[in-house]
Amino acid sequence: MDFEHILQLAIEKCDGKYVEELARNFYILYPFTTENIDGYIKKFHLKDKSLLTVGSSFDQVLNAALFDCKDITLLDICPFTKYYAYLKMASLLELNRDEFFRFLRYKNYPKTFKDNPLLYNKEDYQKIVKTLCLLDYESYLFWDELLQNYEPKTIRNELFYSYEEDKQRVMETINPYLRIDYNYEETKKKIKKVKLEIIQADLFKVRLTRSFDTIWLSNIGTHLMHHDKIMEMIEKMSVYLNENGKMLMSYLYNTDEAYRTKYCPIYDFRVTFEELKEYNPELISFIGMHSIVFNDDRTKDSILVYEKKKC
Ligand SMILES: C[S@@+](CC[C@H](N)C(=O)[O-])C[C@H]1O[C@@H](n2cnc3c(N)ncnc32)[C@H](O)[C@@H]1O
Repeated sequence: MDFEHILQLAIEKCDGKYVEELARNFYILYPFTTENIDGYIKKFHLKDKSLLTVGSSFDQVLNAALFDCKDITLLDICPFTKYYAYLKMASLLELNRDEFFRFLRYKNYPKTFKDNPLLYNKEDYQKIVKTLCLLDYESYLFWDELLQNYEPKTIRNELFYSYEEDKQRVMETINPYLRIDYNYEETKKKIKKVKLEIIQADLFKVRLTRSFDTIWLSNIGTHLMHHDKIMEMIEKMSVYLNENGKMLMSYLYNTDEAYRTKYCPIYDFRVTFEELKEYNPELISFIGMHSIVFNDDRTKDSILVYEKKKC
C-alpha cells in the first residue's frame, strides 16, 4: 500500500466516513501493548540477537531494545504501524518520561475515568517534529497533515482501538522501558543503535528474505477461529526462525483452568498441544494482566513457546 493511499484512508476515517477497507480488515492501531511483556521478555535471549515481532503499539520493539536486542523487524498488518512507530520513537527520543505519557496517553490519564486533554499537544509536538522528520519523512507528513486538520481526540478515536487504556501503574508494570526514568533513558540510548525495519504485511501472505533468532507473534493465535489456521501460521513463521531460536507462538490471557477463556480454539489445550506436538510447545506462565489490573494473584497469562533445536 503506498503512502498517499494510507494517508487518504486516515483522512476519510478522521472525517467520520465509513472506510470499508479499514473496517473489513480490522486495520487499527494499538496505542500501547495489552500484554504483560515484563512477564515473558526474560525468557528470550535478545542481547545482540535478531527479533521479528508483531505489534502496532511499537512497545514490543522498545522493550526488546532495552534488553539489548540490536536488530529488530516489526511486521504488522495495520497500515498505520510505521507512522505510529516513528511518532513514538521521536517522542521517546525528545521527551522526558512524564512528557511522553502526557503526549501519548489518552484514556484514564492523568486520572482514572478522565481523558487526557494534552494528548498530541502542540508544544510537545514542536519538541519532537524535527526528529520525526529525520527518522522518517512520510511519518512526519502523515502526522503533520492529521494534526493540522483534526482534533487529537478525533485521530485517537478513529485510528486506534478504543479500549480503556491501562492505568499508569499497570503500564509501568508490563513495560520495562516505561517502569522508571532510568529504564526510559537507557531505552533512548539503545533504540538509536537498533537496526530497525518496519514491514506492513499480512503474516499469512508475506515472503521474508531472512530469518531471525526470536519471533514474537503476539496474541494473533487467540483471534484465529480454527486450529488449522493456527497451524498454518506456525508452519509459515517457523521457516523464518533460526536454529536454536525461539518463537512466541501465542500470548494467552487467563490460562488458569478456572479462568481460562473458552471461546477461541487455542484455549482448548488438549487439541492445541496435540496439533502443535512437532513443535514441542512449552507453556510458560506468569502473573496475568487481569491480576496486575486488580492487584491480586488469582490469574496467570502464558506464552506458548517453540524452540527450534539444531538437527
Ligand atoms: C492481536 S493484536 C493485539 C495487541 C497485542 N496484544 C499487543 O499487545 O500489541 C496484535 C497485533 O497483531 C496484528 N495482526 C493481526 N493479524 C495480523 C496478521 N495476519 N499479520 C500481521 N499482523 C497482524 C495487529 O495489527 C496488532 O497490532
